[in-house]
Amino acid sequence: MQKNKIYIETYGCQMNLADTEIVLGILKNKGYTVTKDAEDADVVLVNTCSIRDNAEQRIYGRLGNFKTLKDKKPDLVVGILGCMAERLRKDLVEDKSIVDVVVGPDEYRRLPELIDVAYNGDKGIGVKLSRTETYDDILPYREDGLQAWISVMRGCDKFCTFCVVPFTRGRERSRELDSIVTEVKQLSERGFKEVTLLGQNVNSYNDEGNDFADLLAACAKVDRSMRIRFTTSHPQDLSDKLLYTIAENPNICNYIHLPVQSGSNRILELMNRTYTIEHYLNLIDKARKIIPGVSFSTDIIAGFPTETYEDHVMTLDVMRQVRYDGAFMFKYSPREGTKAYRMKDDVPEDVKSKRLQEIIDLQQQISFEINQELIGTEEIVLVEGKSRKSDKFFAGRTDSNKVVIFPVTEGINEGDYVKVKINRATQATLFGDYVEHIDIRNDNLALIA
Ligand code: SAH
Ligand code: SF4
Ligand code: F3S
Repeated sequence: MQKNKIYIETYGCQMNLADTEIVLGILKNKGYTVTKDAEDADVVLVNTCSIRDNAEQRIYGRLGNFKTLKDKKPDLVVGILGCMAERLRKDLVEDKSIVDVVVGPDEYRRLPELIDVAYNGDKGIGVKLSRTETYDDILPYREDGLQAWISVMRGCDKFCTFCVVPFTRGRERSRELDSIVTEVKQLSERGFKEVTLLGQNVNSYNDEGNDFADLLAACAKVDRSMRIRFTTSHPQDLSDKLLYTIAENPNICNYIHLPVQSGSNRILELMNRTYTIEHYLNLIDKARKIIPGVSFSTDIIAGFPTETYEDHVMTLDVMRQVRYDGAFMFKYSPREGTKAYRMKDDVPEDVKSKRLQEIIDLQQQISFEINQELIGTEEIVLVEGKSRKSDKFFAGRTDSNKVVIFPVTEGINEGDYVKVKINRATQATLFGDYVEHIDIRNDNLALIA
């Protein structure tokens, strides 16, 4: 019997989710099938994340579960992919005897070969980083749906001092514009309604003189009823041209994820973020002028080495000034190999926790206030399906990525754009009533004309 059933679990960022689709694309070409049940699999793959220690600990915990599975089924192949594979390499095989295959983010083409090595009783290891690999020609395996991710670049050259990504993902490189646009076309033909362009720092995208604004404009033109999102923008590289491109293309969402990390210039410098808070706040002002109604989200780290109470208060101040729609908030976690690893991790754990909690509380309050202000307004919502909690309600999202819940009404289908009048709001969710259907393509074309 041929052993060809793959089970895969994915941790970490959207880029890892997109990579899993590339991995499945590669394996399906070699005759593998996908199973959603680990017990049923011949090969179990875990696409891993190293960004913080707790991300890695979670994955170690999961490997413990797969060990039990392997005890029952000794010829099961267990593979580690992604950032932890790259970071820990051979150690993974030596420390975790259940791991048979270790493949980093730039060697997925070799995965079928390395799984064969494991079938033959050896360890399959591929952890070289590449300066050129972008998997341009690989068709990712995607189930039908409304939303898709496309990695438009790989790696990162920023070397923020806290961050492991440049070490796990290697040097920055961009995919060809044409191949990305072709993929967007294929997704549109399959009925997808939303595409998110991904990169660690999309603003430095460059393909033969085409910058990220050119790429966004080209993708937006493919299908005006398709929403285009993107992440992540680095505050140093976000250009005016990009802001105008967002403003001019109604189907590019008016939403920018712009990680600030800290409100203190001293800490930003130690982080090697290469911008000041003044630059950052200017950028926010400029974006708000050029793109009326634009919203922002951010990432914040609490307790970076040497962070004082005053530095922390500056972070809270920036949050109050910008009023983010949302934020991802983390405690600093030292990562071996990074520059910050050599600094003393001198903010005590309980202080880090307290600061993080203050940051979270403030963000929740701001999100709640922003959502309260939307009561009484009409929002355009892309209907994504039934709500998770009740099939009497639909769930969808606004342009600014807010979840909207409204009663199931006849004539509404997944993938429709509808206007919903908001009548209630929590910190995380808007609730409302259906008003009417919107022909988004006509609206969007009229706005461009
Ligand atoms: N490329 C993106 C983010 C990549 S990682 C950017 O430039 O912003 C996502 C977030 O994880 C980062 O923005 C940062 O806030 C957080 N992060 C990264 N390394 C971290 C570490 N060592 N400890 C705590 N948080 C970290
Ligand atoms: Fe990490 Fe900085 Fe690159 Fe983002 S920009 S991936 S935080 S090094
Ligand atoms: Fe994690 Fe790697 Fe993404 S470290 S956040 S999976 S780039």
